[in-house]
Amino acid sequence: MTQASPRLFTEPKLVVASHNSGKLSEFEALLAPFGIETVSAGELGLPEPEETGVTFAENAALKALASATGSGIPALADDSGLVVPALDGAPGIHSARWAAGADGRRDFNMAMEKLVRELGGRDKAAYFVCVLCLAWPDGHRESFEGRVDGRITWPMRGDKGFGYDAIFEPAGYDMTFAEMQPEKKHAMSHRADAFGQLIHACFPRQN
Ligand code: IMP
Repeated sequence: MTQASPRLFTEPKLVVASHNSGKLSEFEALLAPFGIETVSAGELGLPEPEETGVTFAENAALKALASATGSGIPALADDSGLVVPALDGAPGIHSARWAAGADGRRDFNMAMEKLVRELGGRDKAAYFVCVLCLAWPDGHRESFEGRVDGRITWPMRGDKGFGYDAIFEPAGYDMTFAEMQPEKKHAMSHRADAFGQLIHACFPRQN
């Protein structure tokens, strides 16, 4: 069976299907070298869809499709999280929701403590996943999954990261993502992996 070639992105403008300001600036910086104008879903007044998927790929696709069909412009979305096989894949697609505190604020110290408590003496292997989905208004989609393998460590170490970075040591390193210089983490992360695949497949001009 022959695999169809990925669709090339040739439009001048792209919607970044996220309402998170950190992600918006990261996407903008990554796309700037390609001369693509970016506009966020929030700026266009597009609603944030419910993340009802049961996989990272489904959630990335539903966010990208909602923005592409709602705006008439291709849209890029991501979905990411930490997967611990010994916890049956948790927190996985619920990584952000695990940190929801009673007052509605995110509390990642609480989420990391809960994860380590539930893991107990079981296998510490873990990986971060990022799925990027580029969707067009006609419904066409291209998806790319990035991954970085490592292990859970305790106690937390480092203050440079976010989310679960302080308990995650990437394979081959004896430091956590939160102890690394951000440039170093960004060069080896699950997001960098997915972005590299996207650029290679859909933005071939700069390869
Ligand atoms: P999303 O915004 O629905 O993709 O949720 C991603 C969640 O996964 C974040 O809130 C973090 O909890 C976790 N996560 C994703 N990537 C990272 C990372 O690079 N470091 C630490 N936590 C991450």
